[in-house]
Amino acid sequence: MNVCIIGAGYVGLVTGACFADLGNNVTCVDNDKKKIDALKKLKMPFFEEGLEDMVKRNVKAGRLSFTDSIKEGVKKSLVIFICVGTPPKQGGEADLSYVEKVATEIARNMSSYRLIVEKSTVPVETGKWVRETIKLNVRKKVKFDVASNPEFLREGTAIEDFLNPDRIVIGVGSKKAEKILKELYREIDTEIVVTDINSAELIKHASNSFLATKISFINSISNICERTGADITKVAHGMGLDSRIGESFLKSGVGYGGFCFPKDVDAFVHISGKLGYDFGILKAVRKVNEEQKALFVRKVEDALWIVKGKTIGVLGLSFKPNTDDMRSAPSIDIINSLKENGARIKAYDPHAMKKAHSVIKGVTFCRTAYDAARNSDALVILTEWHEFEVLDLVRVKKLMKNALIIDGRNVFDPVRMKKLGFKYISIGR
Ligand SMILES: NC(=O)c1ccc[n+]([C@@H]2O[C@H](COP(=O)([O-])OP(=O)(O)OC[C@H]3O[C@@H](n4cnc5c(N)ncnc54)[C@H](O)[C@@H]3O)[C@@H](O)[C@H]2O)c1
Repeated sequence: MNVCIIGAGYVGLVTGACFADLGNNVTCVDNDKKKIDALKKLKMPFFEEGLEDMVKRNVKAGRLSFTDSIKEGVKKSLVIFICVGTPPKQGGEADLSYVEKVATEIARNMSSYRLIVEKSTVPVETGKWVRETIKLNVRKKVKFDVASNPEFLREGTAIEDFLNPDRIVIGVGSKKAEKILKELYREIDTEIVVTDINSAELIKHASNSFLATKISFINSISNICERTGADITKVAHGMGLDSRIGESFLKSGVGYGGFCFPKDVDAFVHISGKLGYDFGILKAVRKVNEEQKALFVRKVEDALWIVKGKTIGVLGLSFKPNTDDMRSAPSIDIINSLKENGARIKAYDPHAMKKAHSVIKGVTFCRTAYDAARNSDALVILTEWHEFEVLDLVRVKKLMKNALIIDGRNVFDPVRMKKLGFKYISIGR
């Protein structure tokens, strides 16, 4: 099938590469000319395991190409996926101006039937507006369908998630659109949930908000554990074995971050309010998440007594492991608070250093975890990269001024840390 992907970001590029790998002809469009020029030279705009090889393989096979022209992509393709950003506006509302702009351009360039699919995360009823926008701008008599096909991939395991998803959701308004999308996903062995467009849009917002709720819930429990001497890892394990609850997303830490959860929770609260429903649970989820970061900073302050003038090594900057994505990473707020308190920060991340440079200022970036530990008064862990789990802790201890680790991701076993002679503070245990 001939497929056009508009927006060659985390979602669009992975989607494009995977569809090409499944044997389709894919044109990836982005209005960031620099990104397109780099992609043409097979340079990836971000780090994602396995993506570079997949892109190279499919470009070489002639199934994947890049352009900054929507016109070119629309002309060649039957199915057009909108994968542009839907960032938050002041007040939490999703900014849909990129979606509108792309829908307008698609419409102006359509000369025969096209299926336009929203893959970006959008509030319920966006499909209706995309349809209206296209109707308004399309040349007379060109038929089209709009569908919703929300994406559930996780950065870090994006390719695996795309090719082996728990489900595929397609929200459609016609049998033709359903048939085309089912055909496109034919090779993927999973349940396809077919719904109306509003339901599909809601499935995405509801799923992300539910996962964020699980995180804030377990973080709240971790605060009770700390006040009672209970152990959050055991409590979470004991809860998670209940098949009605499940073990995933019950890991306490410094709070959720990334491009999706914070903005999707905000956007869901906003659209719910607009529809006349006050989504109280989600407001609390958001509040708990903000407090969790502040509580962590307080932990560091309590452990150091005086933060001013102290050197703090920070291990992990990306919002989660196996990605270089720094968008809304908890590390940004935590480092900024520590800096405001007068700490000197030495930071290290296995993959996110380049991106971190542009969002965190006034920090010394180190080349290794050991460099960050050297002469530090405390070491703070903010992302649970595997590299940190296998650190030579005897060496780390020797390098540090003070053997103090405040672990925001519960990477180490407290008993082992005590034996090694560290003062070790973690979350909820
Ligand atoms: N990142 C994730 O893990 C993830 C997972 C599921 C869903 N989503 C959703 O998918 C959408 C995209 O997210 P992302 O992380 O890929 O964003 P991103 O910022 O990495 O990519 C968006 C791309 O769209 C391009 N773009 C913007 N306006 C354009 C235009 N007019 N024409 C052509 N290209 C244009 C940008 O240059 C950028 O490259 C968002 O709605 C997000 O919520 C993201």
